[in-house]
Order: sequence, then structure tokens, then C-alpha cells
Amino acid sequence: MTKNKPLAVVILAAGKGTRMNSKKPKVMHALLGLPMINWLLSSVEQLSPERIVVVVGKGMHDLVAAVKPHETVVQQTQDGTGSALKAGMSALDGFEGDILVLLGDTPLISVATMQGLIASRYQGDVTGISVLGVCLDNPTGYGRLLLNDDETLKAIREDKDATLEEKRGNIVNTGAFCLDASRTVGWLEGLGNSNAQGEYYITDLPEIAAREGVKTRVSLAINAAEVVGCNTRIDLSNLEQTAQHKMRENFMMAGVVMQDPSSVYLHHDTKIASGVILEPNVYFGADVEVGENVHIKAFCHFEGAKISKNSIIGPFARLRPGSDIGEEVRIGNFVEIKKSSIGDRSKISHLGYVGDCTMGEDVNFSCGAITVNYDGFDKYQTVIGKGVMVGSNVNLVAPLTLDDGAFIAAGSTITTDVPADALSVERSKAEVRSGWAALYRKRKEDIIKNKSDVS
Ligand code: UD1
Ligand code: CA
Repeated sequence: MTKNKPLAVVILAAGKGTRMNSKKPKVMHALLGLPMINWLLSSVEQLSPERIVVVVGKGMHDLVAAVKPHETVVQQTQDGTGSALKAGMSALDGFEGDILVLLGDTPLISVATMQGLIASRYQGDVTGISVLGVCLDNPTGYGRLLLNDDETLKAIREDKDATLEEKRGNIVNTGAFCLDASRTVGWLEGLGNSNAQGEYYITDLPEIAAREGVKTRVSLAINAAEVVGCNTRIDLSNLEQTAQHKMRENFMMAGVVMQDPSSVYLHHDTKIASGVILEPNVYFGADVEVGENVHIKAFCHFEGAKISKNSIIGPFARLRPGSDIGEEVRIGNFVEIKKSSIGDRSKISHLGYVGDCTMGEDVNFSCGAITVNYDGFDKYQTVIGKGVMVGSNVNLVAPLTLDDGAFIAAGSTITTDVPADALSVERSKAEVRSGWAALYRKRKEDIIKNKSDVS
């Protein structure tokens, strides 16, 4: 095989995305919290191309910012994928080698598939163009690949321009092309717009090249899910599923146990170490890291949290941004934690709120205890030392410090600092009236009896 030439990648991302019904450029819609364009860029970066050029529309400032530090070029009028490539090529004046064209709305294409497409241009006689096709059960909406007898490409027919006969074909254009840079600009000059959409189609290039005797080779993608495009929000949800599925599988291959993978929702930056057990229905928002052998019980919600090894979390626990959970910690049901660090082996086993708190090791934070961290204006810190026992249903009114080994009696509302190993109790004295309850019940029963006698 001939060695590949220098590579430049052009990503077409200027389209308005009308079918998304959104004010955002289509490629800024996210999968697992990361814009589509960034999925594509992170794969493209792995090819280490000489140049990456992203074609954007006028005024798409957020897109330009998301693409940085990569280069963008503006397509002045969004009149088709062919004219978008023309805009991209204007930034690559004089570039010699391979041009890999990718569609911004096809973000999950794998590095291996891209490499296969580039390599296909060099199989046998080097050819000027290769196109990435895929077989789809339902090809509706896609351009159909019309093949010659020798399986080279005769033409790509857009769905809207295809005859009934042509529509029956189910090998479609994924939109990815590999082109000989030195000839592309000349071919682009030959594009017209006399078609159903009045646009300049990149898909006309194979026919234009054929007039010069240049054949177009077809490279077939094996996994359809990674090369389907996104035109509507329904497509977006399907791509989301594909990306979730892939990431879950990667984690499982790396030693994570998922009892019901389809109910675990991951973020693109989620980190989960091996030996972790995830029960069903766990949500990972941005920036969550789970250490080795952590057991996450069902129905947990995490954002901005670090959970260290051997801890047990949930069921029904919520970790909000700034939660730093130590090793062998136990966080039980209906516990919410925010901007707090929890020391090794501490237990918050049920029904609690811990916010703006530094909790030491071996603390027992009993059922119903909370930090009172907000006065309606400002937030205040609670510092809990090592080995502190916070009894049930305690309010810790911040700012507050409980020194090592302090003991807070159940039901107390604590407003002053507690020294090491001291007891702090705040309760009103209990009043016990003997026989009161029996008398009370009798009086109530008599009232009910008198009423029924009258009626
Ligand atoms: C395109 C292909 C079709 C293929 C399908 C695969 C053409 C004419 N059609 O159709 O053969 O089966 O993709 O998903 O190429 N874009 C621009 N500028 C424009 C128009 C589009 O940059 O003026 C960009 C869009 O941002 C998008 C991509 O090109 O990322 C594809 O555009 P889209 O309108 O979605 O093309 P399809 O109708 O899906
Ligand atoms: Ca599309």
C-alpha cells in the first residue's frame, strides 16, 4: 500500500440545522454534555492531521469558541455542502495531500473508520476520491450511492432528487469523503445547483471527477450507529443512546459492574475505576470521579463529586458539586451533600444534609442531622473534627466548629462551638404528666359516644 500523504481535515458545520427547531447551531447540541463538534474534534485530533479547518456560518460565535484552538472559516451563504467545502478549501490554499471531509452532524464516526476511508483511496491504483458509505435498513433522507459494475461509484443521488428506482438502494452516503487536495478545488468549480434544493452539493463531485476519468472508491462502514447523522432532535436522542452505550461498554470492559447498563446515565467526562458496582438508575452529571470498589446503590444523582475507594453510596443519595467523599465512607438513603469533604470511614447513613462542611474521619452523622449553612444571604462553614458523634435530628448552625471527639446529643440545635471530647446538649426539660394520655383518650371517646346517642 502506498504511504498516505499529509492530511488536512475539513469539518462542515455551517448548516442552520433548521430541522432541529433550535436557535443554537446544530453541532453545538450536546451528547453526554459535550457538543457534537467536540466529539468529532477529539476523534480527528487522534489522526494528528497537519491542518483542521471547521466551516462555520456567519455569527456562530459560540461555535467558533467551542472549536478553538482549531481554525474556523466562514461560509458566507449556507447554500450547500459543496459550497461549504469550497469555503474550507479557501483556508487550505496550496495544501498537497489528503483532504478528509467530515460532516459536523455525524459526530460519532470512529478513528478506525476514518483511517479506513483514507486508506481506501490508496487500495490498488491510487484514486482521486473515496466516499464512506453504509448499508441502512431505512435509507430515507440519505443520498444513495449508485455503483458501477466494478463497484466503483457512479454517482450519489440525494433523496430529494432520486427516482423511485434509485430510492430502492440502501447503500447510502455517510457524508465523509477523502479527496486528493490538488484536484479538489478544480472539481468544486464544476458544481452547479440545478437540483431539488437549489444547493451546491458536495455529492456531485464523483460525477464531475468521472468526467476526467477519475474513479471514486467506496469504503463501507461496518457499524451504522457511528455514522448516522443528526438532523432532528429525535436523531440527537438516538446518537445520545449510541454514545451512552459505547461509554458503558468501555467501562464494563475496564472492570465496572453495571447491573442494568441502560439505566445508568453517564457524562462524557465521567471517571469510574475498576471494581465499582453500579446498581440500576444512577445519573452522572459533569465532573464525577468514582474510585476502586465503590458500591453505588440504586437511584443516585451525582454532579461535581469525587468518591474515594471502598465507599458505599445510596440508595437515593445526591452528591452535588464540591462533594469530596473519602475512603470507606457510608452515605445512605436521602442524604444530600454539597461543597463538603467527608473524612475516611465517616457515616451519614440516612436522611441528612451536609453543605459547606469539612468533616473529619470516623464521624457518625446520625439520621436527620443537618448543617444549617444559609441565613438567606450568606453561606457559612461547619467544621467537624475526627471521631465526632452527631446525634439524630441535630441542627448544626454554621459557622460552627465541633472539635475532635465531641458528642452532640440527639435533637439539639447547636449554635456555639464545642471543644474536643465535650458533650453539647440543647433540649428543653421534658415534662411528664402521669395518666394524662388515658384521660385524654377517654374524654375524646365520650364526645364521640354522646354524638351518636343524639342522632
Ligand atoms: C448530507 C448529504 C447526504 C448524506 C447525508 C449524511 C449532501 C448534499 N447531502 O445530507 O448525501 O446522505 O448528509 O448524513 O451533501 N453544511 C454546511 N453548509 C451548508 C449546508 C450544510 O456547512 O450550506 C453542513 C451542516 O452543518 C451539516 C452537514 O453539512 O453538518 C450536512 O448538512 P445537512 O444539511 O444536514 O445534509 P443532509 O441533508 O443530512
Ligand atoms: Ca445531516
